[in-house]
Amino acid sequence: MVTVAIRLLPDDVVLQGRPGEPILDTLRRAGYSHRFGCRRGGCGVCRVDLVEGSTTDGAVVSEAVLTPEERAAGVRLTCRAVPDGDVTLRLREDDTLRCVSPFLARYVTRSSLT
Ligand code: FES
Repeated sequence: MVTVAIRLLPDDVVLQGRPGEPILDTLRRAGYSHRFGCRRGGCGVCRVDLVEGSTTDGAVVSEAVLTPEERAAGVRLTCRAVPDGDVTLRLREDDTLRCVSPFLARYVTRSSLT
């Protein structure tokens, strides 16, 4: 299976995403989490900043949640954004990457700072 590399800053954790898989799903499958709410593109809580690469939304995101200006500036919703290839994302200053399952993280994480 072809995978994509999802690099998360500032922790510098790299996860293996599956084709068509939203970023938040990859995090959770890999034993990680960050701040999220509805998981349906409706609240905007899961905002991150795209540093490198590109994404496509796996489902419709309302412009009331993510404006065209925010999107153009690189803001993405991890519950909707599907990487087009390898991507680098930066969590917001008030957000934290948490390892919620060290067992899963051991098998899915490509590399990380421990
Ligand atoms: S969790 Fe609500 S928009 Fe992503």
